[in-house]
Order: sequence, then structure tokens, then C-alpha cells
Amino acid sequence: MLKEVIATRYVAPLREGGSLPGLVEADDHGLYVVKFTGAGQGRRTLVAEVLCGELARRLGLRVPGLVTVALDPVLGLGEPDEEVQQLLRSSGGTNLGVGFLSGALGFDPLAFPVDSEEAGRIVWFDALVHNVDRSWRNPNLLVRDGELWLIDHGATLIWHHDWRGADAFAARPYDASDHALARFAPDVRAAAADLAPRITEDLLAEVTAAIPDAWLEDEPGFGSPDAVRAAHARPLLARAAGVHERVTGLDEAP
Ligand SMILES: Nc1ncnc2c1ncn2[C@@H]1O[C@H](COP(=O)(O)OP(=O)(O)OP(=O)(O)O)[C@@H](O)[C@H]1O
Ligand SMILES: [Mg+2]
Repeated sequence: MLKEVIATRYVAPLREGGSLPGLVEADDHGLYVVKFTGAGQGRRTLVAEVLCGELARRLGLRVPGLVTVALDPVLGLGEPDEEVQQLLRSSGGTNLGVGFLSGALGFDPLAFPVDSEEAGRIVWFDALVHNVDRSWRNPNLLVRDGELWLIDHGATLIWHHDWRGADAFAARPYDASDHALARFAPDVRAAAADLAPRITEDLLAEVTAAIPDAWLEDEPGFGSPDAVRAAHARPLLARAAGVHERVTGLDEAP
């Protein structure tokens, strides 16, 4: 279970985010980047954020802490911006909070060198979850105190948008030619040797358990939130052992 907090103040929108995430203060006095259930991308994006964020953290990658944020739509009433007001009004209930990394800067591959071991671990992880949103144009990596942090895992797990493709997913190649870390000679093979054996049924049960029921209920074709959790875990378990063989595009990278 993720820690649960209650939103007390909407501070500001983060305009650069496509889904209009907002900076929110909560009853624990923490500041969170909140991804709202009422955003156009829908709750599957939030499911992907939790599964991938918690999985990455357990593999030793840096990910800001995740919480659930209970939101009373009344919070939106005083918002002057109509788009924000509408978003808050349609996001009552459980939303996702990402611990705000104060002082972090967006990753710039020309200014921040990454060693091939760390690059390999991140590319391997992105290949496993099929992250299509870590390109040099939009790296979704933050840098603070000389360390890389991973954010924004909404555009992953493509199979959960169409479960018919889930079984075939394990064999799907991952094109890393556009990856933000492609230029750092990522050692994907070394990463695989260390990380792939750690993707076990138990680990996946633990990370899928962190997904709130509220985002899994009523998934067409499934009888319970736990059945949806298991369906999320299966393709990852099948994919882990061989995914490093399916990473393409690294040799041609600039
Ligand atoms: N935990 C955080 N700490 C500090 N800043 C953050 C954090 N999470 C996100 N941001 C900032 O907010 C921006 C948008 O966040 P994020 O990429 O998660 O949103 P998004 O709507 O999914 O974005 P997009 O789809 O445009 O990539 C990031 O580029 C970053 O500048
Ligand atoms: Mg982003």
C-alpha cells in the first residue's frame, strides 16, 4: 500500500506536463506533483506510474516517493484558471502524488555525463516496461546533487490498453535509438545479468499490490482488481529474461 495523504492546497500547475500535473500541498505538509484521475490520459496512466515507479525503486533506481492523494473537488472552486478548475472538479477521490524534488533540474545529455553501467540499467528497465517516453527530446529524467532521478512512467505497459496483445508482448522489441541515454554506451547486457533474475512473481505481486483498487475496478474482462494486477505482472515476468536481446537501435545512436 502506498502512503495516503489528503490534499490541502493546490499550489500551481506544472505547465510543461502534457497531463497538466499540479503541485499540491498535503496534510502531512509535503509537496507533491499530483497526476489527476480526471486528466485526459485516464487512470491507466496512473496504474503504470505506480507499477513502474515501485518496480524501478526495488531495482535500485532513483524514483521520487509515491503516495495516493485524496482530493475533495471543492478544492477547485477557488481556482481562477478554468482548465485547472475543471480538472480538480473531475478528480474527486484517489489521485497519484509524486514527491516533489525541490531544486531538481531537467536532464540535459550534453551537460550531464552518465556512466555506461547506470545508462544500461535505465535502458534495460525501460525496455522491460516498454517506456516510449524517455527520448532525448523528452527525457523524463531529473538531476539533483549530481544524481539521476526517474519520473513519468505513464507511457509504458502498452499492453494494458488492449489486453488481447498482452501475451505477444513478451517478444516485442524495444527501439532505444531515441533514448535519452543511448549516447552513453548503455551496458544493457550487464544490467540484464543483475536485474533480470530479480524480476520474480513475488516481486511483481508486491509492486502490483501497491496499485489502488480504485484504479483497477471495472476493468472490462476482469472479475476483480487482483485479477487485473496478475494480468499486469504476467507479461513482465515473461519478458524479463530475454528483453536485453530485443533492445535495438543502440549501435546506430549518435
Ligand atoms: N517529482 C518531481 N519533482 C520535481 N519536478 C517534477 C517532478 N515530477 C515532475 N516534475 C516536473 O514536471 C514536469 C511534468 O511532469 P511529468 O513529465 O511527470 O508530467 P506529464 O504530464 O506526464 O508530462 P509529459 O507527458 O509532457 O511528459 C517534468 O518535466 C518536471 O519538470
Ligand atoms: Mg513528462
